[in-house]
Amino acid sequence: MQRKLRVFDTTLRDGEQSPGCSMNLDEKLRMAAQLERLGVDIIEAGFPIASHGEFEAVKAVSGLLKKTTVAALCRTRKEDVERAWEAIRDAKLPRLHTFIATSDIHLHHKLNMTKREVLQAVNKMVTYARSFTDDVEFSAEDASRSEIDFLAEVVDVAIKSGATTINLPDTVGYATPVDYGNMFAEIRRRVPNSDKVTFSAHCHNDLGLAVANSLAAFANGADQVEATINGIGERAGNASLEEIVMAFFVRSDAFNATSRINTRELYPTSQLLSSITGVKVQPHKAIVGENAFAHEAGIHQDGMLKNALTYEIMTPESVGLTRTMNLVLGKHSGRHALQKSCAELGYQLNNDQLQQVYKVFLQVADKKKSVGEQDLVDILKNHSDIVSAAKKPADLRKELTG
Ligand code: KIV
Ligand code: ZN
Repeated sequence: MQRKLRVFDTTLRDGEQSPGCSMNLDEKLRMAAQLERLGVDIIEAGFPIASHGEFEAVKAVSGLLKKTTVAALCRTRKEDVERAWEAIRDAKLPRLHTFIATSDIHLHHKLNMTKREVLQAVNKMVTYARSFTDDVEFSAEDASRSEIDFLAEVVDVAIKSGATTINLPDTVGYATPVDYGNMFAEIRRRVPNSDKVTFSAHCHNDLGLAVANSLAAFANGADQVEATINGIGERAGNASLEEIVMAFFVRSDAFNATSRINTRELYPTSQLLSSITGVKVQPHKAIVGENAFAHEAGIHQDGMLKNALTYEIMTPESVGLTRTMNLVLGKHSGRHALQKSCAELGYQLNNDQLQQVYKVFLQVADKKKSVGEQDLVDILKNHSDIVSAAKKPADLRKELTG
């Protein structure tokens, strides 16, 4: 039977903690509406105790969403839980998300609490959160660096106190996929009633392993993944939502799971976030980067012109791009791609003309990083013998390859 992947988007909370990515109320509302269109299951709208503005934004998102669960983050403190509940109480599907750190490092250096005090806080605040709603998520912050016996005890208490989702974050991006997967397997094996709750993965990208770790957690029983659009978040960011979703989509043979995501909304969502925050996506970013569907090497371009399956594992359309083929002209490009680009500009070149233009093109390409449309027009204009629209591209392809 196919498993169901639950996608928990934390762009508006953990993502917003990224330098330069904070959003005002109106911006959060626009993002939330787009995330609902994308089809995520849960939107973590913010950390209401943090500020008045944050509280108002979470409240507004709660009033807006029709079919998506709205989560609000709170520490295991009474005033936090109450403030978070106040912000989401009008949501159609409210979730309280409470957390406390469980690693020795955090207990000693940050919380100054004993293990016993942590267990008491989990018991008290998960129980308190459950008095407001049936949907309570508990996160053991820094779970991946926590001592496994203590982590199992904490999870046991959280489940007994009423948590319905158990999140085991790799808060500092320290885990490897094997470590992280094993942690889920071990906790699920040790803790009674683990099969009655949903386990969740929450990964940071300090070693560039956030997506791989999330997939390893899924393979070991985590049915929920927490991620952000464009992978924004603390330090090196969170697991990138679009990468996880497309891994499931393209490699459905490996995961045998479905999600509610409309993959065609991935690119528009990425663009919206980028335009709201002003933070650009790196060009070679998987799925949504400018170069994700661009091809420069001659051999690749030739393959693409014959059949896109040669060098693309998904279509640009499947992630919401309308562009069908992006052949970038540069010194690695071949005659085939050059001919196609010339044809798109209205210049149909025969073999001799193509050889001539190719020579000049390479001289220009050796001097520039890429040859743009205007460069190509200039090259073609300087060759007055080149006729416009003389032959159809299909005839020319025969001539070239035949
Ligand atoms: O990274 C983390 O541990 C978190 C928790 C608060 C869920 O963001
Ligand atoms: Zn986090």
